[in-house]
This record gives sequence, structure tokens and C-alpha cells, in this order.
Amino acid sequence: MELQSLPPKSGDHNLKNYEEAVKHFDWAEVEEAFTFHKTGKVNMAHEAIDRFAEKDGKKDQVALYYSDDQRDEAYTFAEMKKMSDKAANVFKEAGIEKGDRVFIFMSRSPELYFAALGAIKIGAIIGPLFEAFMEGAVRDRLENSEAKAIVTTPELVGRVPVSELPALEKVFIQGDDVKEEGKTLDFKGRMEQASESHDITWVDREDGLILHYTSGSTGTPKGVLHVHAAMIQHYQTGKWVLDLKEDDVYWCTADPGWVTGTSYGIFAPWLNGVTNVVRGGRFSPESWYGTLEKYNVTVWYSAPTALRMLASAGDEIVKNYDLSSLRHILSVGEPLNPEVVRWGHEVYGLRIHDSWWMTETGAIMITNFPSLTVKPGSMGKPIPGVEAGILDDQGNELPPNRMGNLALRTSWPAMMRTIWNNEEKYQGYFEFPGWYVSGDSAYKDEDGYYWFQGRVDDVILTAGERVGPFEVESKLVEHPAVGEAGVIGKPDPVRGEIIKAFVALREGYEETDELKEDIRNFVKNGLAAHAAPREMDIRDKLPKTRSGKIMRRVLKAWELDLPTGDLSTMDDD
Ligand code: WT7
Repeated sequence: MELQSLPPKSGDHNLKNYEEAVKHFDWAEVEEAFTFHKTGKVNMAHEAIDRFAEKDGKKDQVALYYSDDQRDEAYTFAEMKKMSDKAANVFKEAGIEKGDRVFIFMSRSPELYFAALGAIKIGAIIGPLFEAFMEGAVRDRLENSEAKAIVTTPELVGRVPVSELPALEKVFIQGDDVKEEGKTLDFKGRMEQASESHDITWVDREDGLILHYTSGSTGTPKGVLHVHAAMIQHYQTGKWVLDLKEDDVYWCTADPGWVTGTSYGIFAPWLNGVTNVVRGGRFSPESWYGTLEKYNVTVWYSAPTALRMLASAGDEIVKNYDLSSLRHILSVGEPLNPEVVRWGHEVYGLRIHDSWWMTETGAIMITNFPSLTVKPGSMGKPIPGVEAGILDDQGNELPPNRMGNLALRTSWPAMMRTIWNNEEKYQGYFEFPGWYVSGDSAYKDEDGYYWFQGRVDDVILTAGERVGPFEVESKLVEHPAVGEAGVIGKPDPVRGEIIKAFVALREGYEETDELKEDIRNFVKNGLAAHAAPREMDIRDKLPKTRSGKIMRRVLKAWELDLPTGDLSTMDDD
């Protein structure tokens, strides 16, 4: 059932007239907002932090509120400049140079943001890693990118296989009493000693800024490279979509290990000179509502799984908090159920605005704008300056209400510039000339709203995180008991999908609960907790093509009791 449309509240939105902007907007105009328009000198960290730190009326505004169960801190734009200048000096003194890959592998903390901005200031390319990654996942990414340095913590450094990574020269550890020896450097100690004055490295707008590794349906994770020029779209979507004004207090709940936590947890808010809230630690309804209340958050960017968990925590708990400062809520990462939009509207008195984009697109592409009617269940409309389309499998554009491949006309400022070390994979996105093909299926209705239907490939979206079945299958077959493995996403009411594995055991192994638990833990400890199968079925044999590829489509049909479709390529001996 389609829920009732929710018209916009009248308000002073940054994007007042969507249709006009679609007709007349030009990305080139946005550049006038930046210093580099006048000076020709570019650096993301300058535009996001330094120019505000030098401005009366802005420099003493809080740029970062950080809290977790132990810490509660605030840093102004001037202080963020100072701390990131120090970090830049720490990297420079250790011999890190422009273009070097500097990975950041730590849980959320102010130091994570100092390190990221500091590395950007010297022109390095940062590579954020989610704190849940285990050794195998860390190794793949550092190896592929030939990382020169990593910033990590005493808790996580054990998962960095330093001796197996010849390109890795420096391991900075943020912790107390770190002893420097070999490649190990004491980040905290060096930060204390470092000079506060730093000459930023000016780079080209097309120089590398950040590498985010993400999963596809085949192969190991790919390194999606974004450049400094992405700031044009980060800034503009911050204005139009997040509707940021300079006195907003903004909270993006995503971890910077994922692209939402950088594009919209670092760049977009600070490029707009806005106070940014970061909450560390685990999710709980109390700590999340408490965060909204404590900082008087006005704009809140979150994700469907979290919103579903808040909905299941109930309406009553909301009444214990004063959420009256909140004026704009957004969501990203997976389909936002119309029911959650309805619930949010009732309980928060606000519409939840869906937004669609991908690691590869670098910034928001399709969204429900504050000034447009929200159709619950629809992702909304393309941002001005971006043209979307629905293509059939031959690349022809389909008329409204026909389901097909969601594609975007190339190009836009935040578009990835390559897949690191794999130009062939990069070219794979452009099989139809002039289009980037997303891998999602969708349709467009007669009003121009886009409706998500699913992934075209086998990529799994679990609790908003993108997991490649191949990566999990590869880890599973490393377990001595596992002969073959196939992995699918199984629909789940809270997490969107959960990971389900089908496993054929090697000769001599018997199915027991202990063995299944052991296999699960093997993936959890080797890859990451969120990549471990929540469900596992043991089968004598798995459906394969004659060339030996596991047919995930058939596994999915088994699981969902669907017809298995064309089995002509299946090996049936
Ligand atoms: C995939 C990209 C950059 C955002 C965080 C995820 C799915 C994203 C939506 C949405 C339905 C969505 C798509 C997309 N997705 N937003 N609003 N509705 N699905 O980035 O890890 O690169 O994943 O997430 O399937 O292709 P990502």
C-alpha cells in the first residue's frame, strides 16, 4: 500500500525552487563559494577548516563536539586548525609526502579527525578503515593501495600485519606511553611536541583525496578514489539536501570508515561552516536521543537500520527527551521503509528524507528535498546538475513506471576518478556510453520520483553496510572443514538483509552446532563481525555452473521458496 504523500512544511529552505534549479543550475557557479576560486590553490582541509579558523565570528564557533562514554570535548574551528596543523607536521617530519596513502584505523575520537585533516593538509590520500576490520580485511586494503603509513591504536595495531606489508613504513599509534621502535611511532607524543604552524600543501583539484574500499559481487574490495574537486558537490548537497545554515548543529551518525562518515561526517558540514557532532561508542536509543537533546541537534543524518531500531524501542522513550531543536531528518544506505517514514512523522513530527548514492558517486545523487513533497518509499529526485535514467539491459532509456538499471549521466564533481590499481574494473561501470550504471534496479514514476527495487548483482546490504559475497565465501573456504560456500543476503525486518551462508563440508566433517559456530567465528575474526554469516545451512553439494561458479541465484530461490529460473548452465552431475 502506498502511504499518503507528505507535503513540505513551509520554511526558508536553501533550495526553494527545485524545478528552476534543474533548468538553470551550473556546477561552475558553486566554485565562487571557495577560496580556490580566487587563489587557484586547492586543499580540502583549507576550505573545510582553515578559512573559518581565520575568520572573525567563525573561528570561535565549535566545529566538533565529540562524546562517548568516557570523553566529552569541544573544539572550535581555530582549535581544529591548530590540531590538524600539528598532525600535518607529525606526518611531514616522518617523511610522508603528497600522494602517499595514509590509512586511519581507529574508533571514533577527536584524534581520528585531526589525523585525517592533517594527512589531507600535506596532500596525502587518506584511507579510512572501519574499526571492526580484522587482519585479513586490513591486509587486503593496505596491500592493494601500497599504504605508506597507518594511524591506529594499541587496541587495533595487532590486526595490522606490518611484517607482511613491505610498503608500510610508519605505524603511528595513538595511545599512552607508546615506545618508538622500528616502524612504530608515538602519535600522541609527537602531536604534543609538534609545532602549531604549518604551511599547507596546495594540490591540484584532480589530485587524490580519499580512498574508500567497497565491495562488489566478485573479487576483493575495490579502492574507490575521490579527489579534492569532490568538495564542490559535498558543499552544494550540504546546502540543498542537508539544508545546512551556518548556525546549525548537525549530526551524521555514520562511522568515517564508510563514505557517509567522510563525505557527510567531515567534508559537507565543515565546508558549510557548521558545528558537527560526533558520537562514539555503541548504539542505544538512550544515548542517541540523549545526543540529540544534549547538543540541540538541528539536522540529523542517519540510516534505516538505526531508525528501525529506534522505532522498535517505541514511542514512549521519545517523550523523555527534549528534541524540539530538531528540524530536518535524513536517511541513507538502504531502502527506507514507508512505515518508518510514517512513524517518524508521527513521533518526531518531521518527515524523514531519504537520499540515495554510493561510495562510487561520492555524494548524494537522488533525494527527497526539503521543499518537495515526500512520497514515503521513494528515494526522491535527482539533484540539479545530475541526470538519472532507467536503462534496459541494452542501455536504452525506459519510460516511466518500467523497472530497469538505475544509471546516471556522466559526470559530476564527486564522481570517483578510478578504482585503485584496477582501471579495468573502473571501465566496467560504463558499459553504455555516457552512463554510469549503478548496479541497482529501480523505476521512475510519472512525477519523476525514483523507487528502489533491489540490487542487480549479489551485493548484500546488511544494516546499511555493503558486503561482497565473494569476500565472505573466500574466507569461509579457508576454514579446514569447508569445501564449498555460497553466500546470499536474506531479507530481515530490522537489518534489511542478513548474511546467510550455504556450506558443503569436506570429507570427514560432521554438521554440529559447535562446528557451525566455529566457522562463523572464523569469518568474524578473519574479516569483520558484520561480515560473518548470521545463518548457515549445511548441504551435501551446492548448485554450480559447469565452469564451477556457485549459483547464488539458486541459493536465493531455495531460501525464499521461489522458482529457480533457468538452470541450463547448471552442472547437474
Ligand atoms: C548501495 C551503495 C553512500 C551511501 C551509503 C551506502 C544502497 C544506498 C539507498 C537508499 C535504497 C540504497 C544501494 C547502493 N543504497 N542508499 N536510499 N535506498 N538503497 O554506500 O556502501 O557504497 O552502498 O547502497 O544498493 O547501490 P555503499
